[in-house]
This record gives sequence, structure tokens and C-alpha cells, in this order.
Amino acid sequence: MAAQTDIRPDMRMVDLDDDGVDRAFRADVLEGLGAPQKAIPARWFYDDEGSRLFEDITQLPEYYPTRAETEILRERGADFAPLIGPGRAVVEFGSGSSLKTPLLLDAIRPGAYVPLDIAGDFLRESSAALAAKFPGLPVHPVEADFTAKVTLPDELHHMAKLGFFPGSTIGNMVPRAAVDLLRTMRMTLGGDALLLIGVDLIKDIEVLTAAYDDAAGVTAAFNRNLLKRINRELGGDIPIAAFAHRARWNDTYARIEMHLEARAEIAFTVAGRSFSMRAGETIHTENSHKFDLRSANTLLLAGHWTPVERWTDSQDRFSLILARAGVPRKAP
Ligand code: TRP
Repeated sequence: MAAQTDIRPDMRMVDLDDDGVDRAFRADVLEGLGAPQKAIPARWFYDDEGSRLFEDITQLPEYYPTRAETEILRERGADFAPLIGPGRAVVEFGSGSSLKTPLLLDAIRPGAYVPLDIAGDFLRESSAALAAKFPGLPVHPVEADFTAKVTLPDELHHMAKLGFFPGSTIGNMVPRAAVDLLRTMRMTLGGDALLLIGVDLIKDIEVLTAAYDDAAGVTAAFNRNLLKRINRELGGDIPIAAFAHRARWNDTYARIEMHLEARAEIAFTVAGRSFSMRAGETIHTENSHKFDLRSANTLLLAGHWTPVERWTDSQDRFSLILARAGVPRKAP
């Protein structure tokens, strides 16, 4: 049988081989397991089970970022609404099943809402929920990978845009990729755009690590689910119980790293290839960079956005920054 391109229920184009294996997933996993520091791109966390576990993470007592950002959106609307002004098309990057969006849309007077997501299921669900809650607000979901410039629907051409990128998702990218993404967002949003972006702040290391290693073990299950997915989709025999979940602070890069650490020497196969790991060796699965207000500003400026104003929650854990498109090319 010839190789085929299949359309999944979520309508995302996935390139499958003769055995129905996602080629990109297999390539990333085989390359990642073959590297000196084993690493698998975090995007592969989000199968159905992974997406569900991630929603559970946001409810955990230790996982403060969602509550802190929600507090800012709820309490500070009167401050950011006048700076944003009425009539903008709100373009949300990676809308997922976000519960934060209604708080933003309530606080400002938007001209339209445009959720962008590669996961069509979430996109349709969140669009329908939003449209029901805000009758009269034009909602234009766009199924797209926003790491490349997205062409927005024609109806929005006359409207100024407000990009919305909550959750400190920018921190899940290394600075080089974060800067690329910020510049791409600017191209997607156009000349007189604004950006409202959430960034998690550097704080006590115990508080940071607990947020990624909760007592109930939900984040551990989320991390290990990646191995389950590999075994199921790529025909692997990874001994999942042999892996411990680790969350560690890397001070040089100002980030929490998630790893899966082999508790003993192990050997396994994935897609017909053999791998071995020493006791204590890890697979690096996620980064979550943390910022102070200066480092966040520098990142935004490097990404061609000028910070305008910022708000922080009552416990100084998380910040929401408003920035406008463009920076001076040189100074002074
Ligand atoms: N951007 C959020 C954060 O870094 C959410 C997130 C992404 C996350 N990947 C994660 C949370 C993995 C826990 C584990 O906190």
C-alpha cells in the first residue's frame, strides 16, 4: 500500500506511513532518543490523555500560574481596557480550552474573537462555547500552526488586532524560538497591533519545582504519558515504571526542566530500534522558562514588541504584559 496522508477526526493533516504511524512523531522520538542528552519535543505530550491531564494540572493546588493569571484578568480589567480600546479583533494563540478568554472579552469591548489552534477539536469546542457566551461577537476560528505567519480571515482586515498569549506558554520555548515566535506573531497581527502576554516570574525554587512535581502525581502522570504514547503508537516496549518524574531548576537558563529519569539500567526498543539507558540517565521532556520584568521586556524587544504596561498578581507570582508592535531599529 502506498504511503498516505490521513485526515484525523480533528482535521489536522497528519502524515502517516503504511502502518498508520505518524512519521513526524517517530522521527522526533528516534532522533531524540539517539541524542547524547535524550530529549523529546514537548508538543507530543498532547494526545487525548495528555490534554486531559494537562487540564488537571491547571487545577492543582501547587500549580499557581493559572490562578495568578486569572486573578490579574479578573481584577485589572479596568486598567488594561482603556489602553487596549474598543473594537479590536482578539487573536488568541493556542486557544486550547482556555477559560481565561471570557475574562478578557468581558473586560474590553472586542470587535471579533479569533482563536488559533492546531487542535481542531479544542478549537471547535472553545469557539462554540465562546460564541454562546458572547452573542453578537463575530467568532472566526482558524485551524493553524501559529509558529508560521497565519493569514487571518478577510473580514478582519479593517480591524486592529490584540494578540493574546496567556499561560506563560512563551516560556516553553528556548529564547531563540521565543523570539522567532514573537516576530511571527507580529507579522500575523499587522502594524498597529497590541499583544497581551502572560509570563511566569522567577520565585522561590521550592514553589517553582512543586508546581511541576505535585503531591498527587498528576504532573508525573502527564510526563510518563509520553512514554505510554510512544509504546502504543510507535510499537515500543519502554518499561514505564522504571522511570521517575523529575522537575529541576536550571539556574543558568532560568527554567524548570522536566525529565524522565531511568531508575536503573534499562534497555528497550522503539519502532524496531534498540536503546539503552544508564541508571540516572534522563530524557528531557519540557522547559518552562521563568522571567523577571527586565528579562521579559528584553525578550519582547528582541521579538519586535515594545512593552507598554504590566500587571502582577497580589502575590507577585505572575505578570501580564501589554506590548505594542514595533521597536526602533537603532538607538540612540
Ligand atoms: N506554559 C505552562 C507552564 O510552563 C504550562 C505547561 C506547559 C506545563 N507544559 C507543561 C505545565 C508541563 C506543567 C507541565 O507552566
